[in-house]
Amino acid sequence: METCVLLLGLFLTSVHVTTAGSAAHRCFCQVTGTLDDCACDVETIDKFNNKDIFPKLQKLLSSDYFRFYKVNLNNGCPFWTDHSQCGLKYCAVKPCSPDEVPEGLKSSSYKYSEKASHDTEECEKAEKLGAVNGSLSDETRQALQEWKKYDDESDRFCMLDDEDSPESQYVDLLLNPERFTGYIGAEAWRIWNSIYEENCFKPYSVNRPLNPLASNSGQGFYRWLEGLCVEKRAFFRLISGLHASINIHLSARYLLDENWFEMKWGHNVSEFQQRFDEDLTKGEGPKRLRNLYFLYLIELRALAKILPYFERSTFQLYTGQDTQDDQNKKLLLELLHVAKSFPLHFDETALFAGNNKEAMKLKEDFKLTFKNISRIMDCVECFKCRLWGKLQTQGLGTALKILFSERQIEAMPNTSNTNPSFQLSRQEIVSLFNAFGRISTSVRELKNFRSLLSKLKQ
Ligand SMILES: Cc1cc2nc3c(=O)[nH]c(=O)nc-3n(C[C@H](O)[C@H](O)[C@H](O)COP(=O)(O)OP(=O)(O)OC[C@H]3O[C@@H](n4cnc5c(N)ncnc54)[C@H](O)[C@@H]3O)c2cc1C
Ligand SMILES: *[C@@H]1O[C@H](CO)[C@@H](O)[C@H](O)[C@H]1NC(C)=O
Ligand SMILES: *[C@@H]1O[C@H](CO)[C@@H](O)[C@H](O)[C@H]1NC(C)=O
Ligand SMILES: *[C@@H]1O[C@H](CO)[C@@H](O)[C@H](O)[C@H]1NC(C)=O
Ligand SMILES: *[C@@H]1O[C@H](CO)[C@@H](O)[C@H](O)[C@H]1NC(C)=O
Repeated sequence: METCVLLLGLFLTSVHVTTAGSAAHRCFCQVTGTLDDCACDVETIDKFNNKDIFPKLQKLLSSDYFRFYKVNLNNGCPFWTDHSQCGLKYCAVKPCSPDEVPEGLKSSSYKYSEKASHDTEECEKAEKLGAVNGSLSDETRQALQEWKKYDDESDRFCMLDDEDSPESQYVDLLLNPERFTGYIGAEAWRIWNSIYEENCFKPYSVNRPLNPLASNSGQGFYRWLEGLCVEKRAFFRLISGLHASINIHLSARYLLDENWFEMKWGHNVSEFQQRFDEDLTKGEGPKRLRNLYFLYLIELRALAKILPYFERSTFQLYTGQDTQDDQNKKLLLELLHVAKSFPLHFDETALFAGNNKEAMKLKEDFKLTFKNISRIMDCVECFKCRLWGKLQTQGLGTALKILFSERQIEAMPNTSNTNPSFQLSRQEIVSLFNAFGRISTSVRELKNFRSLLSKLKQ
């Protein structure tokens, strides 16, 4: 028997009395009202995101600290031999040349964002010489000690790249946007299939594995989902939400036209309909959109919870450009305060509740499975998709780490506490905010599609 938190998902679907049967209605009729497994509704998120979060977040993500993401795109697939699609031209990723990356990021201490750590190398030198540099502030020394004690393997939900590996390179995310790549067919399908089939939880009572990808799955698919406990259902919904977000982006930045001089990218409404229209997807599309909102809530809650960590005076968004760095930190805190002010936050204490063996075991399984999914990202043949797939799974993994870490997240680390306090690396910070930026953009794009669809005659 598994213990699961019994949360009655309210399957409330307040039917909007709009032009029933219209194109917009068929994608969005169920994308309204209360979301299952949490106390929030779609309309509140739409309004909050589009007005308060989206503009601030976009501004923040265009800063040097967040646009340069260090990633290893050559890890190699651990599960099967892949055939990288270097040939697909829309899949190309252009890494930065060394002079494009701000000096501050390249310095040996870029990995940790705490101010203190910029002195790490100096300190190590000093230590070797047996000398302690008395000019280090107490605060700095304390933060350094925190880092040394810290080993977060047990906290992590995903694999991080070794940033020191010569294979890791900086990528300018603004120059390599997530959009349509033409990565379709058997290869893309294999990735999604191995995620849903081999790395999502299924109820043990079902003897025939239900294939969510089978063409005749239809409504039955969600029936097995209802039989799962809330944690396993949450896991599936996070993955499905991520999948929906990726597919919204490729529909919103579709390659509409191309000639010798330019490529024209924009909304392809019929592509969006193929993926989300209720009739064309046997009812699945709108549910996938609801899962996107669920994912949004999880990441939003993580941002609210991490606020004290960034409020530390020692924390810097360090790129070596002092004025800009300070402005960005201010913007970051503003954004996090807005996130915190959201009235209907997801309650993460409802998951893995009860400090018992079963709850711990469930959490461990959840972690291992999610880690495995982050490894599968190294199998994505299309480099552009791999880049954003890795970034988004790392970002979601970081959000889960924030929500479910046993460690205290506090503004002032408690020195008398032997258990080191919570830490994030630069890679985790950059991926967390960029991943949320993707989901926030998807929610914003839904507004565009809603209005484009309502203009269609049908
Ligand atoms: C990690 C990753 C990143 C990608 N990034 C990009 C990108 O940046 N640009 C790009 O153009 N393409 C990208 N792709 C490819 C894209 O996601 C699709 O796989 C591709 O467009 C083919 O779409 P499809 O219609 O065959 O169905 P797919 O999206 O491949 O889905 C396969 C099956 O999964 C089910 N399904 C679909 N959506 C959901 C959902 N939200 N929840 C649950 N089940 C679902 C359906 O049964 C569907 O038939 C990426 C793929 C992967 C695996
Ligand atoms: C001690 O650290 C300060 C600040 O980092 C530095 O300016 C100074 O040169 C250091 N002194 C020694 C002896 O290493
Ligand atoms: C990890 O994923 C691969 C590919 O889907 C799968 O074959 C393997 O069983 C998974 N391993 C674990 C520990 O879940
Ligand atoms: C939009 O997507 C559809 C597939 O859903 C495709 O057939 C069509 O050519 C695309 N439109 C444009 C303008 O590229
Ligand atoms: C710091 O940690 C110690 C030991 O765990 C604890 O007794 C003390 O109350 C903590 N102080 C604060 C301010 O949280």
